[in-house]
Amino acid sequence: MSSLRIRPTQPQDIDVLLRLQAQVYPTIPPWRRDQLAHQLEVFPQGQLVAELNGRLVGCASSLVILWDEWADEHTWNEITSSGTFDTHNPQGFTLYGAEVLVDPRLRGQRIGHALYEGRRKLCKALNLRRIIACGRLPGYHRVAHEMPIELYAKKVLWGDLIDPVLSFQLKEGFRYCGVVHGYIPEDIESGGHAALIAWINPDHEPSRPTGLQAAALAESRSPA
Ligand SMILES: CC(C)(COP(=O)(O)OP(=O)(O)OC[C@H]1O[C@@H](n2cnc3c(N)ncnc32)[C@H](O)[C@@H]1OP(=O)(O)O)[C@@H](O)C(=O)NCCC(=O)NCCS
Repeated sequence: MSSLRIRPTQPQDIDVLLRLQAQVYPTIPPWRRDQLAHQLEVFPQGQLVAELNGRLVGCASSLVILWDEWADEHTWNEITSSGTFDTHNPQGFTLYGAEVLVDPRLRGQRIGHALYEGRRKLCKALNLRRIIACGRLPGYHRVAHEMPIELYAKKVLWGDLIDPVLSFQLKEGFRYCGVVHGYIPEDIESGGHAALIAWINPDHEPSRPTGLQAAALAESRSPA
């Protein structure tokens, strides 16, 4: 029987993650070791991997942001501070999904679902208001000569077309909020565009601080 486990990323996972990313995105510049190491320092709870029978087969990485600062158009490099997550802000209410990927040989086995479930659990545990992400639209290149990106995204919503990423995210309960242009310019398949998506935490309690805000407050009050 196979066993799937979602667990926090460890520094010793970085080599395997770099290999997996290069496999998944042969045309997009891969993350660097120092970026991944920095993400783990900045926000360890936000970095998750999927392990199938003890083998690392996917990951989901996130940071917390002040969404109001980014709600207008932004690029992946801007919002993630070039993949370092230096834009992580413990005062924020928004868990921002910077990456999710699954080993290409193991797609369709609900590994992506388990990673998204791990993210939703984290969002709830930290009493954050929502998860926001900008998802690639890798099916667009097939029809780019026929329609603008906005119509493509709508056709995916209407069920006329299937996009390998947006269709997955809609199944996962995310709402489509529009197109972000030039999000990852190197992403040829998506024409550089992305779909802004959001999931609202049904358990968010606005009267309570978020887990990160409470931790920062406790730290500021503890004697030096
Ligand atoms: C997107 C991705 C993470 C999905 O992972 P996955 O493990 O194959 O997805 P799952 O098997 O968990 O699928 C969950 C649900 O989404 C649906 N889904 C997944 N891929 C789909 C596709 N290509 N088309 C339609 N539906 C899809 C599944 O049918 C499943 O539905 P169900 O709840 O009815 O069973 C994976 O395809 C991937 O790594 N893509 C490349 C990296 C990438 O572009 N990531 C996005 C960055 S923004």
